[in-house]
Amino acid sequence: MKARVLGSAAGGGFPQWNCNAPLSRAVRQGRSGFLARTQSSIAASADGKRWAVFNASPDIRAQIAANAILQPDPEGPARNTPISAVVLTNADVDHIAGLLSLREREPFTLYATARVLETLEANSIFRVLDPAVVIRRELPLSGTTELEGPDGPLGLTIETFAVPGKIALFLEDASRDGFGSESGDTIGIAIHERNAADGFAPVTDGKTLLYVPGCARVSDDLRRRIDGAGCLLFDGTVWQDDEMQRTGVGEKTGARMGHMAISGEQGSLAALRDADIARRIYVHINTTNPILEPGSAAETAVNQAGWEIGFDGMEIEL
Ligand code: MLT
Ligand code: MN
Repeated sequence: MKARVLGSAAGGGFPQWNCNAPLSRAVRQGRSGFLARTQSSIAASADGKRWAVFNASPDIRAQIAANAILQPDPEGPARNTPISAVVLTNADVDHIAGLLSLREREPFTLYATARVLETLEANSIFRVLDPAVVIRRELPLSGTTELEGPDGPLGLTIETFAVPGKIALFLEDASRDGFGSESGDTIGIAIHERNAADGFAPVTDGKTLLYVPGCARVSDDLRRRIDGAGCLLFDGTVWQDDEMQRTGVGEKTGARMGHMAISGEQGSLAALRDADIARRIYVHINTTNPILEPGSAAETAVNQAGWEIGFDGMEIEL
């Protein structure tokens, strides 16, 4: 399986449009080593020809422009695309707004949980993807799905599972517990090349790509899935829970947004220190996160703990 990080930043990208905090300023000024990043998305393929895109970022048009693998075949018909499926992990703006750029009556299969499909149904603008052309398929909160595109199976199997998280910001109901969040508002996905003989091979064969761009806590279930997988792409939104307050850009903590911090006793570095996994990569990185600064103490700590810092265009082969 081949995979590629299309966008390694959290919602808003790096830099965010109106952010004047030091890191955003540094990348805007082109300071050495600072890499601009687009919003949260990856792509995976078994045959290198047909791709499944995981999360449709508002930057998908720029991501297609930056990645030839996602562009129309110049020898193909007047309209064509290697994007055969789009799979959503939640209903956050940074993960669904790109659907609006995928109109023009191009067939692909759209996969999401019932809650996320309901959100798309309830927002009539998403009818720009005519359901007769873009087939919507429901993902289970726990179970295996064989990905299919308009031309049949893609050779990829995914296992979906609920992770601790939060309802999308624009769906929050302040009068309800957890703002109305329900289990399964955020899912993680284990992506695996389909094994012709066995269907879905077990995660312990080291060939599974785990994609978890939003996660509030490493549950026992998640930990069990991580051990033995090949590569983990994990929620790297904030370094410190109160980082947005410290940088003066906002009041919300990582926890309030459904994201666990990287550092600290409750952080992902500590929670996954002993995880049995070959490659671990932070994605969905917020514009305030000091791991984005080359040579910072945060970047050094993350690298020393064996983590890579995701960047746009990063390639993964399993
Ligand atoms: C998140 O990951 O928490 C959301 O993308 C935040 C947002 O909607 O801006
Ligand atoms: Mn997000």
